[in-house]
Amino acid sequence: MSNAIAPDARLTGDLPLAGKRLVVTGGSRGIGAAVVRLALAQGAEVVFGYHSNAGAARALCAEMNEAHPDRQCLALPAEVSDAAAVDGFATAALECLGTLDVLVNNAGIVRDSSFARMARDDWDDVIETNLGGVFNVTQQLVLPMVKQRRGAVINVSSVVGVHGAAGQTGYAASKAGVIGFTKALSKEVGRYGVTVNAVAPGLIETDMTAGLPQERVELMKALITAGRFGTPEDVAHTICFLASDRARYITGQVIEISGGLVL
Ligand SMILES: NC(=O)c1ccc[n+]([C@@H]2O[C@H](COP(=O)([O-])OP(=O)(O)OC[C@H]3O[C@@H](n4cnc5c(N)ncnc54)[C@H](OP(=O)(O)O)[C@@H]3O)[C@@H](O)[C@H]2O)c1
Repeated sequence: MSNAIAPDARLTGDLPLAGKRLVVTGGSRGIGAAVVRLALAQGAEVVFGYHSNAGAARALCAEMNEAHPDRQCLALPAEVSDAAAVDGFATAALECLGTLDVLVNNAGIVRDSSFARMARDDWDDVIETNLGGVFNVTQQLVLPMVKQRRGAVINVSSVVGVHGAAGQTGYAASKAGVIGFTKALSKEVGRYGVTVNAVAPGLIETDMTAGLPQERVELMKALITAGRFGTPEDVAHTICFLASDRARYITGQVIEISGGLVL
């Protein structure tokens, strides 16, 4: 008897996300925008959310509709910390896509300060957006995946949620919460064919890190094995892999994408 495994075209083709329907939160800029671009290039249809940046969202949609006229790309407002807004976003996204294969919970904010000086409002904003947002969006969108016995949820955490970082207690708490959520939900929905994983990026060149003072940037680079900050595309490649059937036997995991950053 031959041990050869017949190649599966869905796992070996050039468009690993062909036919997949994705929802991405915080798709207007940075890592989320890179996921939108790469997912469409890999064959997916995408609805993405934005918060305040309608202009950037519209521009990205126009770019995608021109590059991939045969695939849907739609941007919708979605303040993830607002359950009612998320309800409307999820309903509209499902109407547009018809069905959902992948949810990428990417929207997030930072409000850095030492814990002694941290304002309670900043703590609340970070927890409500980064962790509450994951609750709001996933609660609306995981059920359709469970019902169809197929799907993937990918949550964007951070190395700070794994290892901690001074000046980021609120952010670290929110991102560590996302990891706990990921592991617990993976155990609830795994038997229904839905995978749930997290990525934990290190320092990535986006608006979120653009304001760091140059001396801090140099200090941080010295801690990165790769010697550079990551690009949004570095993160998007792993997210799109987790969204594909190539990752169908991976669940409950946290993948660090940090160029070997040692915190
Ligand atoms: N950059 C890094 O070094 C790094 C490292 C680790 C983890 N991360 C995580 O990666 C994710 C993306 O970060 P990024 O660096 O790409 O950030 P970014 O460039 O600042 O983009 C943030 C995105 O999230 C959206 N957003 C912000 N608040 C929102 C809210 N309340 N509701 C809905 N959407 C909201 C923004 O929408 P608008 O454009 O409409 O405002 C934007 O699309 C975040 O979860 C972040 O914590 C980033």
